[in-house]
Amino acid sequence: MAADIANLPRTIWWDVDPDDGIAGVYLIDQTRLPLVGDILCCRTLEGVELAVKSLALRGAPALGVGAAMAVALFSENEFVGATREEWLAGIDAAASRIGSARPTAVNLAWGAERARAFAHGLDPTLPLEQARQALVAFAQQMAADDEATNRTIGAVGLQVLKPDARVLTHCTAGSLGTAYYGTVGGVIYTGFDQGRIAHVWVDETRPLNQGGRLTAWEMMCAGVPSTLIADNMAASVMASGWVDLVLVGADRICANGDTANKIGTLGVAILAQHYGIPLYICAPTSTVDLGLAEGNRIPIEQRDPRELEGFTVSGAILPDDANTSQALDLLTASGARELTMKDGHQMSVERKGGAYAFDGWFKMTPPGVQVYNPAFDVTPAELITGIITERGLIAPADLAQTLE
Ligand code: MRU
Repeated sequence: MAADIANLPRTIWWDVDPDDGIAGVYLIDQTRLPLVGDILCCRTLEGVELAVKSLALRGAPALGVGAAMAVALFSENEFVGATREEWLAGIDAAASRIGSARPTAVNLAWGAERARAFAHGLDPTLPLEQARQALVAFAQQMAADDEATNRTIGAVGLQVLKPDARVLTHCTAGSLGTAYYGTVGGVIYTGFDQGRIAHVWVDETRPLNQGGRLTAWEMMCAGVPSTLIADNMAASVMASGWVDLVLVGADRICANGDTANKIGTLGVAILAQHYGIPLYICAPTSTVDLGLAEGNRIPIEQRDPRELEGFTVSGAILPDDANTSQALDLLTASGARELTMKDGHQMSVERKGGAYAFDGWFKMTPPGVQVYNPAFDVTPAELITGIITERGLIAPADLAQTLE
């Protein structure tokens, strides 16, 4: 049986609105998946920046593509000067802004820098209009290249899969963490097509539940057998002998192989070592930062305490009687409606066609509680069996030598 990847949405793409001819970066809003499938259209650099900061666009390779597209979007929709120098100065500022929107995934700065370097490397005699078009084409090509890289990662990953392997994964390094297909996703989908994947254990991935919301949904869309577990169940599942290997993505891999990935990966790696289970990082070489010798230098993003103080839900209300529809119509007559609620809870409702989309944040912790909320941790190289890249399976100790 083959993975039904045609069921998976593209994460990010460039398009021009046929109604007004304005270019946009389109992306599927990952803060609201899987119950609401909104497509966001960003027409400004700031729009993409907001999408990155809010995690509507997330996952290291997807961020790389998004950064390049954001620079091209600035050039297309916001640049107002007339000379090549002014254009390049604008590109530099745009690249620096989007490249620093989040600190940990090195792909974000990498994607911005690739777009910046491309613009600077263009033939200076090329008319400015053509230079701008070339930059847009370059950013679009980055999405296509990312998918091709992931398909190669998938093929390389076959060598670590025995028939009917049972995988455990943490966070989302599936298609949604990339332009399309995924890194861990790549290995799982390619492996499933070849009869090498029997089952995927999906860690929920607190606090933002990328596993429970995104990976679990992706596996179901693709028809890959999977089971969702809370993060604190991984030990018991491994102890039961139900996991053959762990596959996780990466946000930054240092020269010595130390790897930053979603918070909780370190715990999974320690467990895997305890139970003698191999752990592989699946990532493009664009996630490798040879400029950082070791993991303690990786900047770790600290996120809003509210991610731990409460929980967020997005969904759709589908009323099944006329009175409820009437009440919701009244409530949403003037667009999205913020509801005032007791105890700090927050909720907004918005009419979407025949349904009503809602976003809620419900407080569950004592008022004033102290919170520590790092978004990533660093797994030391000695806990990593191998790094599956588009350039082959690389032992952490050989990384710098292989890629230099
Ligand atoms: O905070 P996020 O959701 O952007 O974190 C994402 C991860 O940690 C992923 O595992 C990583 O970027 C790899 S995505 C192919």
